Amino acid sequence: MVKICCIGAGYVGGPTMAVIALKCPEIEVAVVDISVSRINAWNSEQLPIYEPGLDDVVKQCRGKNLFFSTDVEKHVMEADIVFVSVNTPTKTQGLGAGKAADLTYWESAARMIADVSKSDKIVVEKSTVPVKTAEAIEKILTHNSKGINFQILSNPEFLAEGTAIQDLFNPDRVLIGGRETPEGARAMQTLKDVYAHWVPVDQIICSNLWSAELSKLAANAFLAQRISSVNAISALCEATGADVTEVSHSVGTDSRIGPKFLNASVGFGGSCFQKDILNLVYICECNGLPEVANYWKQVIKINDYQKNRFVNRVVASMFNTVSGKKIAILGFAFKKDTGDTRETPAIDVCKGLLGDKARLSIYDPQVNEEQIQRDLSMKKFDWDHPIHLQPMSPTVVWDAYEATKDAHGVCILTEWDEFKKLDYQKIYDNMRKPAFVFDGRNIVDAQKLRQIGFIVYSIGKPL
Ligand code: NAD
Ligand code: UGA
Repeated sequence: MVKICCIGAGYVGGPTMAVIALKCPEIEVAVVDISVSRINAWNSEQLPIYEPGLDDVVKQCRGKNLFFSTDVEKHVMEADIVFVSVNTPTKTQGLGAGKAADLTYWESAARMIADVSKSDKIVVEKSTVPVKTAEAIEKILTHNSKGINFQILSNPEFLAEGTAIQDLFNPDRVLIGGRETPEGARAMQTLKDVYAHWVPVDQIICSNLWSAELSKLAANAFLAQRISSVNAISALCEATGADVTEVSHSVGTDSRIGPKFLNASVGFGGSCFQKDILNLVYICECNGLPEVANYWKQVIKINDYQKNRFVNRVVASMFNTVSGKKIAILGFAFKKDTGDTRETPAIDVCKGLLGDKARLSIYDPQVNEEQIQRDLSMKKFDWDHPIHLQPMSPTVVWDAYEATKDAHGVCILTEWDEFKKLDYQKIYDNMRKPAFVFDGRNIVDAQKLRQIGFIVYSIGKPL
């Protein structure tokens, strides 16, 4: 029986391993983490992450061939294949701060693997890492290996939150990078055999290590670039009377461009796009390619511009001041169907409005008050050191009608389906007048809302 161990029971490690366990009943999968509370949650009825379909998959295999444990060393020692899916955030201090990936967690995992291993192992990079990380990991492992053979593979993950299970069941492709040696080829085949349980083999791409590592950063950069491109066009639409939805549709029907990922928004969020582009920028700079670095940096700059533009629009529309005015924030997660708030555009928008002394009332169906207050009290790139400088702390409520009661304006920041179905007449009746709606996701029917009496601002659409 092949044994798999995954270090890191987060948004990637948990769902990925649960799906491997489901699809490969003869493989024993252990997911380990240093966080006791996370592992306890994985072993409980209330999983630590909200992801449609995940509960069902976990219930089918937990206790059979899927185990969650804090006994990291034991499971690593017993495993034939060790996935490393620890967090790789942006460095907050020192060389490359604000851009380079912080590989502290990765390095400590690699050293631990070297320390506890007693048999040959395939070590799989699941985390998103800078190109050439495998070389560094190889050095750590081989210099501490006591004669044990380690094969390093890169197997980046392409799932998106909110659709993780669907993406894992039907991936566009699985990418495996390895050394171009007979041992490397054997290791790649072993991992390929795992995925081949449910992924058609022609969708399993094999490449060299560096191509696999770079492909992940490039894929995220391309995806984010599409959003910044459409968001840049949205600003021009507002200036000219064009409608960004019509423009996206017309542009996306060109089969070379394609229709997906062209929704204009208040800006992209999530734990990875910004971090991975900053990482790419840093790698370009380190390789003496400032022009390439600047090209990708612009994707982030447009994203910041879009969030600022949204805040400015709210303040400018509400007679140049939101001081003391109640503004309802509908949605705080970085996208629908997740409770994840990492790098959510809602943080920057809320901070911008709080900076103008607005009174915020925030509602998100999956994000609790503690998380929102924590997010709004952190400085950028200072996740570990909360500050308490907010001029007004926001109120967090558990109901969209409560959030909007007596409000002057409503900002929709996440595209939750329930926001499309709200009784906007009731909301209008209970708001101060004039009542404003700022739709940061273009999900409401602006014409209908205008008929009710709202003043509606949508992204990239005529007023
Ligand atoms: P996460 O923060 O949710 O999970 C990482 C986990 O690793 C944490 O629970 C942490 O406690 C644990 N950990 C850290 N060091 C450890 C150690 N030495 N031993 C044991 N456990 C340790 O992160 P995530 O969102 O799952 O992302 C993981 C990686 O996958 C990142 O590199 C990310 O860029 C990449 N990725 C994320 C997504 C996504 O949608 N979130 C998608 C594709 C790729
Ligand atoms: C993204 C990629 O889609 C995954 O392939 C990748 O594995 C993952 O990053 C990662 O490496 O972490 P994720 O961030 O979970 O996945 O979610 P996306 O669906 O990509 O959305 C990211 C952000 O872009 C969200 O804030 C979303 O609202 C925004 N977005 C997306 C838009 O504003 N417009 C769009 O058309 C699409």
